[in-house]
This record gives sequence, C-alpha cells and structure tokens, in this order.
Amino acid sequence: MVGGHHTTSGAMMWVAKYLTDRPEIQSRLREVLYATFATARAEDRLFTCEEIRLARLPYLDAVIEEMLRINAVPVTREAMCDTTVLGVPIKKGTQVFFMSNGPGFLSPSLTVDEAQRTETSRTAKLHATWDESRDLAQFEPERWLVRKKEGSGWLAEDVDFDGAAGPQLVFGLGPRSCWGRRLAYLEMRIIIAMLVWSFRLLATPPAVSGYAGLEGIARVPQQCYLRLEKI
Ligand code: HEM
Repeated sequence: MVGGHHTTSGAMMWVAKYLTDRPEIQSRLREVLYATFATARAEDRLFTCEEIRLARLPYLDAVIEEMLRINAVPVTREAMCDTTVLGVPIKKGTQVFFMSNGPGFLSPSLTVDEAQRTETSRTAKLHATWDESRDLAQFEPERWLVRKKEGSGWLAEDVDFDGAAGPQLVFGLGPRSCWGRRLAYLEMRIIIAMLVWSFRLLATPPAVSGYAGLEGIARVPQQCYLRLEKI
C-alpha cells in the first residue's frame, strides 16, 4: 500500500501538469480517446472499465511513459561480490545507483565501449532508434511511438507504442523490481483518460505552476493546481 500510494499519485500529478502546459498534447489525447471510444461518445457516457482495459491506446501509453521517463527515480543495488559493470570494477559492498540514461536522466547517455558489453546486451540492440539529439528535458510522448502508416493520425491503426524505445528504469528491473507496475499502469490509464474525457485543463497562474519536486518514495510535484472546465 505504501509503495503504491505515493508513486502512482505523484505520477498522475505530473501528467496533469504536463497536459495543462501542453494544450496541443492534451487536445490530441482527447481526440484519440473520443475516436477510440466512439460508441461511448455517441451514447453520451463515459467509457467503461472493461472498454478501457481492452482498448489499444498507444498515444495515452506514450503520454504516461514520457512522464515516467522525466520523473524517474534512481534504482540502487549493493554489490554482493567483487564484480565489473561495463568494465568498471565494483567492490563487494558498494552501493550502486542506476540511472536510466547517462549522468542524469535528462542528459544524453554516456559513451560506452561496446566491447565491454555482455553478449546478450550487444545482440539485444536496444534503443536503436532513440534520438538523443532531441532535448531530453522536453515532454515529447511521440518518442515512444512507432508510425505504422503514412499520415498524421495517432490512433492504434496509425501508431504502435514501444515501451522499449528508449532507456527506462522507472520500475527497476530483476527479481526486486516493482510488482505494482501493471496495477499502476492500469490506474494511471483509467484516471488520466477520465480526467481528459470530462474536463479541459486550462492554464494555471505561473506562481502555482512550478516544476520543483519533493523527493519521497518517488519524486512528486510541490505544486499541482488545476483549473478545470467541464466539457
Ligand atoms: C507509477 C507508479 C510506481 C512507480 C514509479 C514505482 C516504482 C518502483 C521502483 C523504482 C521500485 C524499486 C525497483 C527496484 O529496486 O528494482 C519499486 C518497488 C516496489 N513497488 Fe513500485 N512503483 C509504482 C507503483 C507501485 C504500486 C501501485 C505498488 C503496489 C500495489 C507498488 C509496490 C512496490 C513494491 C512492493 C516494491 C518492492 C519490491 C521488492 O523490493 O521486492 N509500486 N517500485
């Protein structure tokens, strides 16, 4: 309960802030939801839990993933024996902090000597299309989308969500990774979709719209004020 409370609510607060400050992304997400749940829209009702659970919503998934990328937390491990990571010697007992990117998760990756990678790492060819020349501090959900056909659509027929498109360690990895991950995605999908379906998130005054965070179990915004207009 403790692990899931602060993290998921903080994540949803960040999404609400990004959608407020990026109205074009907010409108696109709303259009995608209205088109995907066209029956619910025609019947003038909210989508059901079952409808959203089964729906393919790559754009919503990308919005969530991009928020998690920008607000990641480092994962820590203690070396149980003398070892090496990418050729760097690590002594038994050392606390190792893993970031999903380079020196910070909003900076480009560090250059790695490919020969130092393990065979499995080399053959995985992860993140082959990840473009680090684009400012990594910017909120850009399309980083996580692969276009399937020509055009400018954002529905499941137009784009696929690729959660492995770039470096992401926000839920950790391995046997001690977050086991609330799937529940967290489900909760975030439902709540964010309900919010955007029913309300327009209008601009808020700069004095209450900062991006400073509070470090707790996760990093949560110090300020999260919304100005809602019922649709
Ligand atoms: C956006 C939401 C969430 C984020 C970003 C998040 C992130 C994390 C991270 C980074 C870890 C450490 C992983 C590692 O060391 O490899 C973790 C562990 C954990 N999380 Fe989450 N979490 C979220 C939601 C949840 C939810 C909803 C639950 C429970 C329902 C939960 C339960 C746990 C538990 C029990 C652990 C400890 C696992 C272990 O040490 O074996 N988390 N989470």
